[in-house]
Amino acid sequence: MPKITVIGAGFVGATAAQRIAEKELGDVVLTDIVEGLPQGKALDLLEAGPLFGYDSKITGTNDYKDIEGSDVIVITAGIARKTGMTREDLLKINTKIITEVSQNIARYAPDSVVITVTNPLDIMTYVTLKTTGFEPGRVFGMSGVLDSGRFAAFIAMELGCSIRDINAMVLGGHGDTMVPLPRFTTVTGIPITELMTVSTIQRLVERTISGGAEIVNLLKTGSAFYAPSAAVTNMVEAVIKDTERIMPVCAYLDGEYGKKDIYLGVPVKLGKGGVKQVIELKLASDEKKALDRSAKAVMDGIASLKVVN
Ligand code: APR
Repeated sequence: MPKITVIGAGFVGATAAQRIAEKELGDVVLTDIVEGLPQGKALDLLEAGPLFGYDSKITGTNDYKDIEGSDVIVITAGIARKTGMTREDLLKINTKIITEVSQNIARYAPDSVVITVTNPLDIMTYVTLKTTGFEPGRVFGMSGVLDSGRFAAFIAMELGCSIRDINAMVLGGHGDTMVPLPRFTTVTGIPITELMTVSTIQRLVERTISGGAEIVNLLKTGSAFYAPSAAVTNMVEAVIKDTERIMPVCAYLDGEYGKKDIYLGVPVKLGKGGVKQVIELKLASDEKKALDRSAKAVMDGIASLKVVN
């Protein structure tokens, strides 16, 4: 059985562990800094196994030694932004957490593929890469799969059609500057630009961009975790089963799209070993402008790392 570690046994981490176990993608190790939390959730998940008929072993631990030999590691450890906390405060705290987590990954699981989920996503994925020192294809972040899932859900609701045939594409940073691409978003091969008016599409694009905030506003305490954990599970599956699916992920760019030394959401081929190929789309000038704006926001975030450190 492959070994999949989820670091951070909070809402996203524990739900990802559940989905991974239910799909029997491998044995799951759940870790957290809080004593008892990963052990308790892991045992609870293990006890659900006989009821649902999944055979994955699930263990909880506070000891990084137990991540040894992991094939894939998902990082969800971190804190969420609380009232009164600036983006810079959040960046500082989560950078410290991701640095510590990544040092342990490099030490105990040097051959793993790492998927970062902690926000601010593009910057935390950059910190993971620089701290682990892994090759860039083995470190990537979860953003576009979630954002395109949200876009697809809104399209299905609008058209009153099944979600099954929708293929949505969202590029760029995981935040206010993300770039949903209607031209590359289809329903059974039909671009949505053929099925909806420009203003309807614009409304759905805007709802996608503020999709995370919409959930936060409803929940009041906490943020989305069902869709984020589903997105992570799809990515873990692609790596474990070497499916070579094409997905939008937060990937390291080394000249692609004219960008260097940056993480940004782009379509990639995902399989064994991680990102096998970055796919470069020929973007129209307005799409390119939006992606450049998004890249600039991520670059500013990366630059501010040097200031906060
Ligand atoms: N090492 C390990 N675990 C840690 C550490 C650390 N240094 N610091 C915090 N954690 C754990 C917390 O104890 C908590 O259980 O990370 C977990 C985070 O879980 P939640 O607070 O429930 O947050 P969640 O909703 O799961 O979101 C996690 O994913 O989508 C992003 O923005 C979200 O950055 C956030 C992350």
